[in-house]
Amino acid sequence: MSLDWTNAQAPTAEARIDRAGGRVSVDDKAMINCRADVNQLLPLKYKWAWEKYLAGCNNHWMPTEVSMQADIALWKSKDGLTKDERHTIKRNLGFFAASESLVANNIVLAIYRHLTNPECRQYLLRQAFEEAVHTHTFQYIVESLGLDEGELFNMYREVPSITDKAAWALDFTQHLDDPDFTTGTPEADRAFVRDLIAFYVIFEGMWFYTGFAQILSLGRRNKMVGIAEQYQYILRDESIHLNFGIDVINQIKAENPHVWIPEFQEEVRSMIRRAAELETAYGRDTMPRGFLGLNAALCEQYMHFIANRRCAQLGLAPVFPETENPFPWMSEAMDLKKEKNFFETRVIEYQNGGALSWD
Ligand SMILES: [Fe+2]
Ligand SMILES: [Fe+2]
Repeated sequence: MSLDWTNAQAPTAEARIDRAGGRVSVDDKAMINCRADVNQLLPLKYKWAWEKYLAGCNNHWMPTEVSMQADIALWKSKDGLTKDERHTIKRNLGFFAASESLVANNIVLAIYRHLTNPECRQYLLRQAFEEAVHTHTFQYIVESLGLDEGELFNMYREVPSITDKAAWALDFTQHLDDPDFTTGTPEADRAFVRDLIAFYVIFEGMWFYTGFAQILSLGRRNKMVGIAEQYQYILRDESIHLNFGIDVINQIKAENPHVWIPEFQEEVRSMIRRAAELETAYGRDTMPRGFLGLNAALCEQYMHFIANRRCAQLGLAPVFPETENPFPWMSEAMDLKKEKNFFETRVIEYQNGGALSWD
């Protein structure tokens, strides 16, 4: 049998050993379309990627470390939660339960192959594990509260406001996990950056934030404190994921100016605007009447605030009129050192990642 490696089945650069290749120097390294050996972590070029890997490792946690006793008692009690609160909690869990898998799949099936830098890949491996821990969290919550697992894990297929978001994001993954897709042309490089923006900036950086605000707002009122504590840990992980994604995108922009043309910048702004609209619809669907301290209008305002912030992080003009953050307490919720006794559940002292800017 003869092997024809000229087609898309050809072994990737990392599957071959170039015996004649020289040692990799920092200058050989690049974010995308790199020809240097991707198996040489050192010398580091992108120290920010390595630092985020270390911050992720220093923040290790497992959902089963958090007691669910208070949540179970409240969930089973007749009048501890209103009907509206239960509706929000279920839709919220349903959104996250499948979304963590969509994000993980996008990392391993779409991003990893095309991000040709070993220190960034080191971070992606850590992030992929963290997404597995997050999915584990929803399994643990379903099991603890005795929820209908089929209902929760199928919401991304069955609840229109969740389906619309999942479908919007999956289009980007699908484009990149096509075995024939490779970067190396301006259009393909842009397609890759589009996927990074869809997942890091929008999915993890915008849509997760309404979900965090919903549960943490309940936690602030001493409701579902176990889930709220788990969400705090997820939020801290996600804020590193977001900041890693922003750094990756900005680095690719700097190395590949052909990617960041004005038409594409406008396209990214409209993606962010569209994502905020989808989130507003989700907010109305999850909180048709709202409850103490939280309603769909506040979530819409929060999404506009976050959308403008993400634009600024990418060097883009804001997409909404300037607005105040309606949930200023969200930034405190990210600082676990300060807030570690907040929920009065088990206290776990983590090392910091505090040198990074959280938002
Ligand atoms: Fe996650
Ligand atoms: Fe994430």
